[in-house]
Amino acid sequence: MPLVTSKEMLLNAQRDGYAVGAFNVENMEMVQAVIAAAEELRAPVMLQTTPSTLRYAAPALFAAMVRAVAEKATVPVAVHLDHGSSAALARDALLGGYTSIMFDGSQKPFEENVALTCEVVEFCHAAGVPVEAELGCVGGKEDDLERKTDDPYTDPAQAAEFVKRTGVDSLAVAIGTAHGVYKGEPRLDIDRLCAIRKVVSVPLVLHGTSGVPEQVVSQCIDCGICKVNYATDLRIAYTGGVRAALAEKPEAFDPKLYGAAGRESVKKYVMGKMKLCRCAGKA
Ligand code: 13P
Repeated sequence: MPLVTSKEMLLNAQRDGYAVGAFNVENMEMVQAVIAAAEELRAPVMLQTTPSTLRYAAPALFAAMVRAVAEKATVPVAVHLDHGSSAALARDALLGGYTSIMFDGSQKPFEENVALTCEVVEFCHAAGVPVEAELGCVGGKEDDLERKTDDPYTDPAQAAEFVKRTGVDSLAVAIGTAHGVYKGEPRLDIDRLCAIRKVVSVPLVLHGTSGVPEQVVSQCIDCGICKVNYATDLRIAYTGGVRAALAEKPEAFDPKLYGAAGRESVKKYVMGKMKLCRCAGKA
């Protein structure tokens, strides 16, 4: 079917108490793997790309790949800009065919984040495309942004004010997760998530989910998380599949051989996470 926006997908998840999996893709094989997993499990799905991925290949190219695969599928698929770092990149993604946009002004002071997010919301909503924003600082390093702050977590009252003033469609919250590979077991502030949920009406988003224990992810979904982001583990799964294929056949030189192995490994990983997010069977 044609690409859809993330608007209805996330509102359905919020209403029915599950989360949509949002998976970062880096190449054609990962696009195929994520949509094949969604199709097999009848799950709505979001595929997303960060700014560094969009420096590797343009938004129009990723949008075209996702659209071409999604058109052959029978489940709803959205293509989302992850951690959009400027209004200009958000516009590029929109023009390239993205159906969901994140603008991440979380490293800016509150008022500046509000003003920049409002600007992106205005032109995205004019095009019928929903916007995710972020308040508070998810730890670790995502692309070029490394977060270091004394008070990194999202403040519930500020989150309510932010959503009201910007009109965003979903909000990424900082409750103790970090992008990349965790050094120890992550400890999430679930009470804070519940407090945010009580005062914020839009769907909430969990970033930095690779490496978060499954029961903790499930607890977050119980407390109002409607979109769960996975990036690092997909990269690991893809590269692991490629490495294994090349180890088995070191003489191989056909990219299709090891690309297919990477694709299969990502599909398996994504199916596991879709079951965890309870979005399997929801399409
Ligand atoms: P991980 O790399 O920790 O899975 O985080 C993904 C993410 O939040 C993308 O925005």
